[in-house]
Amino acid sequence: MQAVASAPAKTILFGEHSVVYGEPAIVGAVNKRAVVKIKPSWNKKSILRSYDLNFEAELDTANKKYVLKKGKPGIIRYILEALNKVHNHSPIEIVLSSNIPIGSGLGSSAAVTVATLAALYRYHNIRFNKKSLAHDSHMIEQSVQGIASPLDTLVSTYGGLIYLSKNKKIEHFKVNFNAPFIVGFTNKHGNTGKMVRYVKSLKSKYPKIINSVISSMGQLTNYAKQAIFKKDYQRVGKLMNMNQGFLDVLGVNTFELSRMVYTAREHGAIGSKITGAGGGGSIIALCPGKLESVAKAISKFDNILKLKFTRKGVSSRVYY
Ligand code: PMV
Repeated sequence: MQAVASAPAKTILFGEHSVVYGEPAIVGAVNKRAVVKIKPSWNKKSILRSYDLNFEAELDTANKKYVLKKGKPGIIRYILEALNKVHNHSPIEIVLSSNIPIGSGLGSSAAVTVATLAALYRYHNIRFNKKSLAHDSHMIEQSVQGIASPLDTLVSTYGGLIYLSKNKKIEHFKVNFNAPFIVGFTNKHGNTGKMVRYVKSLKSKYPKIINSVISSMGQLTNYAKQAIFKKDYQRVGKLMNMNQGFLDVLGVNTFELSRMVYTAREHGAIGSKITGAGGGGSIIALCPGKLESVAKAISKFDNILKLKFTRKGVSSRVYY
């Protein structure tokens, strides 16, 4: 018997950081996925391996410990936390495949967490639905990272382009928002927890300034929601540029991110901004009709991904 589950990566269009303080956000699932396969292990040991990410570890699921055989651990903590929550500690073999770049703000940890939990629920024949899966995955992210909004795990579970409102209700955009966009990422990884803590400290030092920036970011996200409904790409682009200014005020911008943001605009992007926590990681550039020239210009110094939004959220099944 083998349980298999997969979940998508995401890119945040509007609302990173302000979402941590309850403001709305707009986020889309994209066509990169993490796939987790679980089957019984025949040698009495629990093993986690990933050929794509080039690591292998022996797991002590009861004590959330591991012995690394190859590669870097990064994502293992999320998997151990999921195992600790659901698994009965019988020996299993877990194989993780993923084409989501790690630490680049595309939600690789959320995709791995959602896929691992869904595969474990299937493996143990535990009933679940998307609501409970998104909730449990968020709890895992929170316990590993210390602080996390439900955004990444929600979109990785449900798929599609989502508006998360102030009171944490999700709305799916019914429109097909198919403006071409590029994600550019630097080799310098961002650290979400560190960035979230930085914004928190800035907010407590300069509450009047930062609180008004955060609420303006929420307002801006609501304008963007209307613009997306109307498929008014120019307006969406303008609002992305304004959002970038606010993210700069919050101190999460870097030289490399700025370089990509301005390179994109110079080569025809109608909007470009950091996507994710910043401090490294990625930018998103909306570039109808200019995809190739923007891609070429960014890839002189940094890396690019041509992505598409996808409606496909988590999927899981069992094979006998
Ligand atoms: O860096 P990412 O892709 O995990 O995005 C983080 C988004 C934040 O708003 C900064 C944090 C959060 O938990 O929502």
